[in-house]
Amino acid sequence: MCGIIGYIGSEKASPILLKGLFNLEYRGYDSAGMATLNNEIIVCKKGAGKIHDINHKLNFLSLEGTIGIAHNRWATHGGVNDINAHPHFDCSKAIAIVHNGIIENHRELKEALSEHKFESETDSEILAHLIEEELKKGFSFEDAFVNAILKLDGNYAVLAIKAGEEKILAARKGSPLVVGVTDHGIFLSSDIPSFLEWTKKVVYLHDYDIVIAERGGIRIYNLIEGQVSRPIDTVEWDAEQIKKGGFDHYMLKEILDQTETIYRAIQQDIDVVNKIIDEIRKAYGIFFVGCGSSYHACLAGSYLFSKIAETHINVVLASEFENYEHFLRENTLVFAVSQSGETADVLEAVRAAKRSGSKVIGIVNRMGSSLTRESDEFLLMNAGPEICVLSTKTYTSQVALMILLAYALIGRYEEGIQKLKGLYMDIYNLTSRSMREHLKKLAEMLVHKEHIYLIGRGLQFTTALEAALKIKEVSYIHAEAFAGGELKHGPLALIEDGTPVIVFVGEDDEKKILSNANEVKARGGYIIGVSAERHDIFDYWIKVPEGGDLNPIVQIIPMQILAYKLAVLKGLDPDKPRNLAKSVTVI
Ligand code: AGP
Ligand code: GLU
Repeated sequence: MCGIIGYIGSEKASPILLKGLFNLEYRGYDSAGMATLNNEIIVCKKGAGKIHDINHKLNFLSLEGTIGIAHNRWATHGGVNDINAHPHFDCSKAIAIVHNGIIENHRELKEALSEHKFESETDSEILAHLIEEELKKGFSFEDAFVNAILKLDGNYAVLAIKAGEEKILAARKGSPLVVGVTDHGIFLSSDIPSFLEWTKKVVYLHDYDIVIAERGGIRIYNLIEGQVSRPIDTVEWDAEQIKKGGFDHYMLKEILDQTETIYRAIQQDIDVVNKIIDEIRKAYGIFFVGCGSSYHACLAGSYLFSKIAETHINVVLASEFENYEHFLRENTLVFAVSQSGETADVLEAVRAAKRSGSKVIGIVNRMGSSLTRESDEFLLMNAGPEICVLSTKTYTSQVALMILLAYALIGRYEEGIQKLKGLYMDIYNLTSRSMREHLKKLAEMLVHKEHIYLIGRGLQFTTALEAALKIKEVSYIHAEAFAGGELKHGPLALIEDGTPVIVFVGEDDEKKILSNANEVKARGGYIIGVSAERHDIFDYWIKVPEGGDLNPIVQIIPMQILAYKLAVLKGLDPDKPRNLAKSVTVI
């Protein structure tokens, strides 16, 4: 899930690449590096750590030249250290490459290149040596690059430069790569925000595309289709949208964005919605698949479909989906839910569904992502870029789309739209300064706890799961969710004096969940209630409106803020939790 970026044009490359690296930092922050072509030779700086610190130490801007490539790493093969940082080189140091993905056959390939000297432990370095080997056979840089690419198994988005050649070569299979076009040059990057400051004109690449980027423009060659021309699209995001909007962290900005993003999620093309509804009606078995927060949105969706539309949904973690392949038919419908549209586990599930001839519907935020291309039909969340590694606004957009589809299925689409539109003021209040202060006080009480438990029933259980994920991934406090009814079957043993338990109350399940809360209270638990009404049993109360079907949206928002506050109190960077990356493009 690293981020890669290249630039070729008339401007000095290093400042442009450095900004790009900062904008791609959410994709990986184990190490960073840059290589530019300066007077026919390649110069490079790289190191482990965060870009800001590496730049402070190495000064990337001292790299001269108008052609360059750069990389943020999220390590898969080889430890986090200076040597494993990209770019990687061939033996003669004439070729530099950056890579996002995994080269699965790197060991076999390496064995065949025994006389080459490898410096790093990465799978990526093999590519530079393969190109070198092909050049030795007399091939041009372009042909050597293509021959080397053809030898790779696995997933990759790669960029390569060669000393003395005024071009950048690129290839993608399974990992994202887009081209940005400006009048002063060409960008090649994992993601659009890295070059949005310079251009909104993008070319979405397909798997097996090879790009030759020169100062005059690009040529694209597809390994299966041959010479191809891909259209230049204009993206609607502006550079401001991806900045922090005056907040200390993207996470908080993105939580506050939710007043608008719910509204944007409901801007759908009714013809596409109707087509999807027809498919649902015809389907023999419906699956919702996703990972992490997207999986929790799928779970909420299954409760919503059952409750609103009396329709059964199978919910499966994308990484487990292949185990259900035997049950798939041509008229099975698989919804693949993913913010990035690049999550490898999700794309694997999509491919498993397609092998069985099943139809795939994507629910996705990123236009131009692999999921938008590989699904038969897709709905866009329209949430704008989400930079923080944690899903916040895109989770609620996913839930909003589930609600909308469930209402559309019973012919009450407009009612669904109106309900969701009505959330504006609720979200405004839930994210207000006074609410944030109230949650900060709670965070101050919880920050030194080792464990936080969360309980809910029905829709509220899915919120408990998502809230636990938010707390653990950003504050590193152990947080675990249980269905209220399950407590007595084991987890109650964990409760001791002062154990914090967050209880999500919905009007449907009020009595039952309050008796579960009583069971906790009787064993000394500290009860934090999330509900419309205050109940005596609560030690701390977070007031939320009673949303009915909309509870998964209104109840998760204070939990996102609580998680954020916990991270800030612990001095952690909420936008970049340790060990994680925004877009998980490995299996
Ligand atoms: C949640 O905050 C995320 N860190 C993570 O669980 C994410 O939801 C998951 O990796 C799926 O990503 P996707 O929606 O882009 O497929
Ligand atoms: N496999 C490469 C490495 O470990 C790239 C990692 C990635 O794209 O996630 O350096």
